[in-house]
Amino acid sequence: MDRKDKYYTKAKKDNYRSRASYKLLEIQRKFNIIYPDDSVLEFGSSPGGWTQVVQQFTDKPVISVDISRMDPIENVLFIQGDINDPELTSKIRDAMVSAGINYINTVISDAMVKTSGNYDRDHYGSYLLCENVMKRSISLLSTGGNAVLKQFQGDSTNQFVNFWKQYFNFYKVTKPNASRQHSREVYIVFKGKI
Ligand SMILES: C[S@@+](CC[C@H](N)C(=O)[O-])C[C@H]1O[C@@H](n2cnc3c(N)ncnc32)[C@H](O)[C@@H]1O
Repeated sequence: MDRKDKYYTKAKKDNYRSRASYKLLEIQRKFNIIYPDDSVLEFGSSPGGWTQVVQQFTDKPVISVDISRMDPIENVLFIQGDINDPELTSKIRDAMVSAGINYINTVISDAMVKTSGNYDRDHYGSYLLCENVMKRSISLLSTGGNAVLKQFQGDSTNQFVNFWKQYFNFYKVTKPNASRQHSREVYIVFKGKI
């Protein structure tokens, strides 16, 4: 498999930290999930390609979370933490206080477990990350707020979508062109928190 595809090369040229930036750009173009002045909470942020894209659309500080370290980006409050750790919620609330943010307008998650090659195991790990992202952020999301999550598609994807869609006016499961065609990742877009 050629990992250095056209998006990899383009990311180098455009000074993005990862090729994943183009997935978020495409989602933003299609679904308008981030508006100027929006507060964005991001999960699975490292190395920061999505964070850079967020900063193109809002001037507010971004709160970014990853289990791995991330090289600093100006105006980004980075929390090194595990999505599956219940303590993470209070760390996010502390970051919101220090950034002067009362509500989150958009939650984005590109988090993914290290794939093992076993579809069921990888799907379940990804499903759990998505569940925890939603549990940690639903009460922080403003009315009208949006959420976008990557999920490694599998048996529980429909169940996940059917449960969480009740909190929103609109939902769509999408696969951006920049997502490798053989990959089972999809992006679940929820818009307009009720
Ligand atoms: C595909 S990468 C994200 C790329 C990033 N969106 C970008 O554009 O640069 C997935 C990230 O999910 C993170 N991740 C995986 N499991 C996690 C967990 N339990 N908690 C927090 N982050 C996690 C990984 O460390 C990795 O950085």
